[in-house]
Amino acid sequence: MRLLQLRLHQFRSYRQLTVMPPDGLTVFVGDNGAGKTNLLEAIHLCCLGRSHRTSIDRDMIRIGEKTCAVHARIQRVSIQDEVGVRLFNQQGERKLIYINGKVVQRIGELMGHMTCVMFSPEDLDLVKGPPQGRRGFLDMLLSQSQAAYFYAIQTYGSILRQRNALLKEIIRGNADAGQLDVWDEQLSRAAAPIVRQRRDAANAISQAAKEHYAYISGRRDEHFFLRYQGTLAESIHPEKDLMEQLQEGRADDLRRLSTGPGPHRDDLRLMLAGQEMRSFASQGQARTAALAMRLAQIDILARAHGEAPLLLLDDVLSELDQGRCARLLSRLDSMQTLLTCTDLSGLDGIRPDCILKVRDGMVSL
Ligand SMILES: Nc1ncnc2c1ncn2[C@@H]1O[C@H](COP(=O)(O)OP(=O)(O)OP(=O)(O)O)[C@@H](O)[C@H]1O
Ligand SMILES: [Mg+2]
Repeated sequence: MRLLQLRLHQFRSYRQLTVMPPDGLTVFVGDNGAGKTNLLEAIHLCCLGRSHRTSIDRDMIRIGEKTCAVHARIQRVSIQDEVGVRLFNQQGERKLIYINGKVVQRIGELMGHMTCVMFSPEDLDLVKGPPQGRRGFLDMLLSQSQAAYFYAIQTYGSILRQRNALLKEIIRGNADAGQLDVWDEQLSRAAAPIVRQRRDAANAISQAAKEHYAYISGRRDEHFFLRYQGTLAESIHPEKDLMEQLQEGRADDLRRLSTGPGPHRDDLRLMLAGQEMRSFASQGQARTAALAMRLAQIDILARAHGEAPLLLLDDVLSELDQGRCARLLSRLDSMQTLLTCTDLSGLDGIRPDCILKVRDGMVSL
């Protein structure tokens, strides 16, 4: 997949901007706060309909403006595609998604038109942070692989919210506990495909990431793998098993006013040399594991779509030693990569026309 053109309108620090990245590698270089991450965020928005660093859409609108828009033209194996997203400041005004000039009704329709993998400094949280980030990692990966997964997650989330609301109504005496039966059934049905796909994805990620970890670290003796964790992680019949877990846990749920069992509490357990990484890994080990997971994400998306995703590397090289830097870049060789940095050290031998300077809301050669 190749990004031919990116256009921004009132997006973050940019008023109007058009960038036409060259084939292969593009380096955005500039001082802190120059607007480099904003560019990668705009591409992420085109791919997934949301930012990689905020869940509040209106933060991306240039301060003082009512609306912003991003638009991308991409070349896929056999077709050119155009996608766009427009955001509004006003509460209640929905974001608009455009595909080839037409507004589509559901965000899910965006999935798969343009795919990306973002490497960012916050990736350390994939290893050291709470489970939510690892669930998000799985969800982004699977949503980009198949829109059906994105819809499945949305449905599950909406049923879960309704079940939790009912728990509160029961405690207030406004509803009967028997009414939970129908929600338990719906939640279990919605959970089953999510659990199956997450489990398959976790296995695939583990296999690929293990090999990437060994390569990037340059050490064959530190074995990395990850395992899917959750109340249904081992379940052969997730629908039936969740139904049972919900019935058994009902009293607890009513006490806590939230739903205990189910994939909304899933996690990935990351292991290095037999130890849990969340508690024991060093910074460098955690960073390498996060890179390995992102490289695995590339493999899986490339397999799903028959072509490589766009690679967005935000300030990643500065954190790595030279050997790791060189080995990472060698893995990304044949794919279009957009990379940000504050200086060009570690990037010797780059063609000058691949280097774009970012300053004051402008991008120039
Ligand atoms: N909604 C917005 N409207 C206007 N300016 C914004 C908005 N959001 C962020 N900015 C500005 O964008 C700049 C930050 O951009 P960005 O995060 O892309 O910087 P960066 O080049 O990646 O910096 P660093 O090297 O520190 O990561 C800041 O100057 C910030 O004030
Ligand atoms: Mg940045």
